[in-house]
Amino acid sequence: MSSPSRSGAFSAEVDRRVEKFTESISFDYRLFAQDIAQSTAHAQMLGDQGILSAAEVAAIVAGLAAIRGEIERGEFVFKPQLEDVHMNIEQALIDRLGDVGRKLHTARSRNDQVATDLRLWVRDTIDSLDRQLAELQRAFVRRCEEDAGVILPAYTHLRRAQPVLAAHYWLAYCEKFQRDRERLADCRRRANQNSLGCAALAGTSLPIDRENTARRLGFDSVAANSLDVSSDRDFLIEFVFCLSLVGVHLSGWAEEWILWSTTEFDFLKLPHEFCTGSSIMPQKINPDVLELTRGKSARVIGALQTLLVLVKGLPLAYNRDMQEDKPAAFDAAETIGGCLEVAIPLVAGAKLNREVIAGSLEDGFLDATTLMEQLIKIGLPQRTAHHLVGDLVRLAREKGVGLAGLDLEEFRKLAPQIDRSVYDGLGTNRAVEAFCSYGSTGREQVEAQVRRWRERLGV
Ligand code: ARG
Repeated sequence: MSSPSRSGAFSAEVDRRVEKFTESISFDYRLFAQDIAQSTAHAQMLGDQGILSAAEVAAIVAGLAAIRGEIERGEFVFKPQLEDVHMNIEQALIDRLGDVGRKLHTARSRNDQVATDLRLWVRDTIDSLDRQLAELQRAFVRRCEEDAGVILPAYTHLRRAQPVLAAHYWLAYCEKFQRDRERLADCRRRANQNSLGCAALAGTSLPIDRENTARRLGFDSVAANSLDVSSDRDFLIEFVFCLSLVGVHLSGWAEEWILWSTTEFDFLKLPHEFCTGSSIMPQKINPDVLELTRGKSARVIGALQTLLVLVKGLPLAYNRDMQEDKPAAFDAAETIGGCLEVAIPLVAGAKLNREVIAGSLEDGFLDATTLMEQLIKIGLPQRTAHHLVGDLVRLAREKGVGLAGLDLEEFRKLAPQIDRSVYDGLGTNRAVEAFCSYGSTGREQVEAQVRRWRERLGV
């Protein structure tokens, strides 16, 4: 079968090897729903403009709906000779309708078609990823109740730093994924522009109405420069950038939980449905889901690089290189969707090992910063207090005790202003109680934030 794109200008059929090399149907078939939606809108617009008759529009719309049904039922055979999803569907319409089908491509090019399909796909995919991200946030918010009152050591440089409520940890992830959702929503706004009607690159001399197709397809605006549209993949790159950051966030979380679930930490028990075994070491219960989450983020970041390098040297307007945008973008979206699918139940199903955590809280001088702030409250300059608490930590370390294990005399030797009330802020539990600034891990602050997230996410 000869491709509809080969006009009378050719003197020979395409070489089989070229057909194989240039096809994109093996991956762009995924755009069939978007392609049919935009073809339907395009035909209806052509009807509204008097370019097609009402009967022609009705035949095309019905034909496209029937083709969609065939594809959904798995009855449609995509042909690589027809190169891509656009020509496969158009040819199927021509096979059904003859000359009426040959009118669908009026005032249109595959260049604006592929851009439009991709914009619709980005929009749909953002909507579904947003739902998954919100579910992941809900899983973290639900944990706040389950883990109410649990105090965890928090780390900088992976060294014990200060004590925080477990809920504070979970809400930190909610914030990150919220920014991801906002970034995706912002990307969606820019992607949601009608590129249909730009035709190949210069527009058309036929009396089309681009506002009409924009309305029909739910686009917010109409792209203003046909040459730009034909070459523009910014929206796709931006989308994959947003996904890369989701990947980075998931990867950091995965690493943290891998660490927490080691024998050495033992803070966290992963649900066994989400762990895998070793083929040789029977005792092993491995965190492969988390490791793969960490690993798969590399693919997404790689896809971003692919897209940037792909377009970086392209002159205006469409260049065939751009066909390579789809495998990278599809893979990035599928990878993140897949990671989120397992992350949601994993977050919900893991259990904090309360005893182990509680038993380890007094190690590492988690109350040192709070002690320093107590000294500031009784009038010591911050730098002096910082130095002095350092001395106390050294002394406590030598004695093999925590700060609360030092005698009042030992405090007073360094700063005579100190009285017995110094003990009120010592010990990890009391140190947590002392936090009160907005956004801190103080109990009231965290409770207010949990309420805010519950309202926001409807938990
Ligand atoms: N298969 C092509 C792609 O995915 C569709 C656009 C082709 N346009 C062209 N002028 N060859 O980019």
